[in-house]
Amino acid sequence: MNSYYRPTVAEISLDAMTRNIRAFRDRLDAGTKLLASVKANAYGHGAVWTSRCAAEAGADYLGVAFLDEALQIRQAGETTPILVLGYVPPEGLAVARARGVTIALYRDDQLDAIEKLPERGPKLKAHVKIDSGMGRLGLLPGPAAERFLERACKLPQLEVEGMFTHYARADEADKGYSMMQAERFATMVDYVARHGLPPTIVHAGNSAAGIDLPAHIGGMLRLGISMYGLYPSGEVRRDEVVLEPVMSLKTQVVHAKTLAAGEGISYGTRYFTERQESIGTLPIGYGDGYSRMLSGKAEVLVRGRRVPVLGTICMDQCMIRLDDAVREGESPVAPGEEVVLFGRQGDAVLPVEELAAKLGTINYEVTCMMAARIPRLYVKDGVVISAVNPLIG
Ligand SMILES: Cc1ncc(COP(=O)(O)O)c(C=O)c1O
Repeated sequence: MNSYYRPTVAEISLDAMTRNIRAFRDRLDAGTKLLASVKANAYGHGAVWTSRCAAEAGADYLGVAFLDEALQIRQAGETTPILVLGYVPPEGLAVARARGVTIALYRDDQLDAIEKLPERGPKLKAHVKIDSGMGRLGLLPGPAAERFLERACKLPQLEVEGMFTHYARADEADKGYSMMQAERFATMVDYVARHGLPPTIVHAGNSAAGIDLPAHIGGMLRLGISMYGLYPSGEVRRDEVVLEPVMSLKTQVVHAKTLAAGEGISYGTRYFTERQESIGTLPIGYGDGYSRMLSGKAEVLVRGRRVPVLGTICMDQCMIRLDDAVREGESPVAPGEEVVLFGRQGDAVLPVEELAAKLGTINYEVTCMMAARIPRLYVKDGVVISAVNPLIG
């Protein structure tokens, strides 16, 4: 097990992740596949352990944003099929083919480069990307996309295994835009069926669609945020699937002191003690992804009670008021006591969505922001089975 010497950790419950994935698996028809999206270091949860966990929990595919992410997972020994959801440049195609990585295909220069690959050897697998209204990647439905598909399906180096699109607004209560996208995508699905073209895995759904639009995900659900136990927005129907947050961000008090009234705290002394106050120092800051923009706004859990972060959050440290955690007759908070920045502490919960709201962003970004220098502790059957700390290997 890797070591680490700073008490700041992101605890990742593989137990919760497994239950979240199975909750979706159980909702899908037997023939529908599940892709676990592990891009961006598995939304901050760590790509390698997350990929393993997802594969064990029944994921048929892993999804990443670019080829290097796929190669990281292959190098860790994972054999589950991997789909690169984003752009793979022509110079990456031979590598993708050699390492058994499936690519998203939508550009003519990709086809030109594939045509030049040797015909012998295993085929490069690809899923053709259709832009049905996200305005991001993919071919617009219509004759040009049809010609592209026809050309792709004829290349001997290529297996066009799938075709997919992505919903832009499936997380909103009003599903009108998603239905429009589904109809546009259906024109391409019809074309494939009418012409007997090979794509067999035709897929459209992210977590939000998996929750609210199960009839419109096609043959594979691409599950991202919700495998991490988080809902894609406040507008999806939460009662449809019960999720458990997977990541908790934890640290410890590393210094505790009592200051008289009127003492300044942190850079710029944006906070002065209002009376005699017990101040705790935490070894976490914006260099860890605990954004400076939370200064003067964030709360943390100590002894299951909320206490405020005081003054400016530094790069590696920040300060909290300890008095608020102590009830009459209890001992003062001492160095070494656990602090939860988001997640669960006993019965108390500080949801990641609370930090996201304070930052004016979404839960996705907060977990993605957790820096590589925070060790990830993986918990299975209630026990820490691995600590991943890229700083010292
Ligand atoms: C193409 C594609 N499919 C699926 C997903 C998973 O989405 P979510 O995390 O909302 O489930 C993403 C994530 O952004 C994506 O870009």
